Amino acid sequence: MKKFLALLLTLVMVLSLAACGGDTQTEEPDTEEPADQTQTEEPAAQGGTIGVCIYKFDDAFMTTYRNALQEILEGKGYTVTVVDGNNDQAKQNEQINTFITQGVDALIINPVMTSAAATIIDTVKTAGIPTVLINREPTADEMAVYDKLVYVGCDASQSGTMQGELILDTPNKGDINGDGKVSYIMIQGDPENIDAKLRTEYSVKALTDAGVEVEQLNLTRGDWDREKGQTICANDLAQFGDQVEVVFCNNDDMAIGALQSIQAAGRKVNEDIYLVGVDALDAALNEVQAGNMTGTVLNDANGQAAKAVECMEGLLAGDTYAAGEQSVYVDYVKVTPENVGDFMK
Ligand code: GAL
Repeated sequence: MKKFLALLLTLVMVLSLAACGGDTQTEEPDTEEPADQTQTEEPAAQGGTIGVCIYKFDDAFMTTYRNALQEILEGKGYTVTVVDGNNDQAKQNEQINTFITQGVDALIINPVMTSAAATIIDTVKTAGIPTVLINREPTADEMAVYDKLVYVGCDASQSGTMQGELILDTPNKGDINGDGKVSYIMIQGDPENIDAKLRTEYSVKALTDAGVEVEQLNLTRGDWDREKGQTICANDLAQFGDQVEVVFCNNDDMAIGALQSIQAAGRKVNEDIYLVGVDALDAALNEVQAGNMTGTVLNDANGQAAKAVECMEGLLAGDTYAAGEQSVYVDYVKVTPENVGDFMK
């Protein structure tokens, strides 16, 4: 029985590593590893020290994500330190260097700026620390220089497409006033982040690909922030009034802000205006259920956290990643009033 269990465990481990996309080769211990590190064949079972860098704590989605990461890691016996980059790349660089000096076994990093990825990768490579990047995806070329590095995230174009589909699924395909075109405002996340760029592009593309004519009334940067979403939407409604048929928000926190302005302007979602977000924050799920948001898209924080830890454990066990195969994606899921109950706790 014991032998059978051991065999089963090995099989499960091999399968889970394969699912993570690594080459699943266990390497000889890297001679570049810091001397104070103990190398074992299965460090995952030993519990190690893990440094987690978050771009800023004051971000609704990343708060869910970092809590999930911490819970999973601690549940597996790791010693975890999670630090707040305060949206300051210089500060995060220091935090990474401190973790390296402390001799952490692995790093999980949500970069402050995608454009800093090359420098971050260079730092962790020089130190020989297995690293999982999350949430802000670097280019394949930037990652290719270090084979003990993997990115775990989602394909942002998919979430944009789903937002467009949520509008296409409405009875009038977003054309509330029947003038033959969908007039929208776009409230964008931080455009330095590829999620913001691709959601902006693909939400609209889903409409035009379906042959729907569109008119962009305004596009404003709201940096993923609820208050900015509220202000931007209030200004746009004051300026464009009933012309606004659809409010696309790159994330839910901005959509919740926008909803406050929609309601303050006496407008009614799903009757005279549509509103969509991304993330499936609890607050947004409640609004979808109440009919105050047309829909949202699940950005699976728990799924991504679990996958990030799985990949981290693969790296600790010696996995390496081939160039061009260093992005591991978790699927987005469309959330509508029909299925919203499935996502509520
Ligand atoms: C996105 C998420 C946003 C924000 C951003 C931070 O994936 O939808 O709400 O958290 O990441 O980079």
